[in-house]
Amino acid sequence: MNEKDLVEIAREFGSPLYVYDAEKIISQYHRLKKAFGQIKDLRINYAVKANSNISILKLLKTQGSGLDTVSIQEVRLGLEAGFEPQEILYTPNGVSLEEIEEVSSLGVPINIDNLSILEQFGAKHPKVPVCIRINPHILAGGNAKISVGHVDSKFGISIHQMPHLMRIVDNTGMNINGIHMHTGSDILDIEVFLRASEILFDAAKNFKDLEFLDFGSGFKVPYTQGDIETDIEELGEKLTKRFMDFCDDYGRKLTLVFEPGKFLVSEAGKFLAKVNVIKQTTSTVFAGVDSGFNHLIRPMFYGSHHDITNISNPEGKPRFYSVVGYICETDTFANNRRIAEITEGDVLAFSNAGAYSFSMSSNFNSRYRPAEVMWYNGKAHIIRERETFEDLLKHQVVIDFDKIEA
Ligand SMILES: Cc1ncc(COP(=O)(O)O)c(C=O)c1O
Repeated sequence: MNEKDLVEIAREFGSPLYVYDAEKIISQYHRLKKAFGQIKDLRINYAVKANSNISILKLLKTQGSGLDTVSIQEVRLGLEAGFEPQEILYTPNGVSLEEIEEVSSLGVPINIDNLSILEQFGAKHPKVPVCIRINPHILAGGNAKISVGHVDSKFGISIHQMPHLMRIVDNTGMNINGIHMHTGSDILDIEVFLRASEILFDAAKNFKDLEFLDFGSGFKVPYTQGDIETDIEELGEKLTKRFMDFCDDYGRKLTLVFEPGKFLVSEAGKFLAKVNVIKQTTSTVFAGVDSGFNHLIRPMFYGSHHDITNISNPEGKPRFYSVVGYICETDTFANNRRIAEITEGDVLAFSNAGAYSFSMSSNFNSRYRPAEVMWYNGKAHIIRERETFEDLLKHQVVIDFDKIEA
């Protein structure tokens, strides 16, 4: 999918628009598989939260992927996409016992991340195998909001609570079939990942009937040319060896699980927005687009970087712009960015828009959520229609004040 294709797609489907390159998703999937190619029982569970469009789920299913889910709704989307319950792992945080029981009753394996629910679930369903999410107390992740394995994080069961955890397991007689961790997103240093893995291996030794170890995700993808990315191949080499040694000591071959989101879909996605207005102030040239943080919240939320190119005028003389959205709050995509000269009506393409972009979008300012398109086998396929005014009203119940008596 090149810039000319994107211009054509924008012309055909309008803007704002998400476009996903299926080939890139497939190649990332196989890159990860290859890096861990020596492990026979490798399972890659795509983290649905990154992008839950059913066509993306189905595409990954064709490659052999499983799913990592965090809500019963994501589980249902996975089932709808044709995944078997056993191909899904449910890793919720802070949800009710009832939701966990409902997911479990669908035959979907569950992962529990707190002692209270573990005890209640184990007491009621001692025969249902359960995976445990531990918190290894490692500060990893590209930013405080996406670091989830540290001491102050709400995620996982602290490794310091292992004695309590073991007492619950013994008292309920429950069967622990997996140990899981996920320390954060955008981890730069594989040594941090390997250190956390050692803690996972240590925790795993406590359980005799494990079937899998789930190392979560957090692989850093490049956001611009030359940007650092997790060296998946080096991680593959080092962790494979360590995992195999662990399995030898443990006395059984286990399945190694990863649950990548960004790694699989981030770079495959472009977000296209049209420039409504060029506004020159005393200090800045703003390019105001027909979108905002309602469609791509990551820059405002995490300070994330998205490369921006002017696909309508790629050979234009580069100038400096602040690219802003139309939302009535501070709504900045990029400050002082060098972009080929923009005129009103041009279409800008934002990179790394495949993950946590549409899935974090909203109707703020009563704007419609954009359409989504998948570029597959050299053709553009619509995979979600743009919302309409009816969608905004769909679940509203209008009170007829004239008919209500005082
Ligand atoms: C439990 C869990 N697994 C996997 C992921 C996916 O992480 P990433 O998109 O960085 O690969 C997340 C992200 O929040 C997560 O919370």
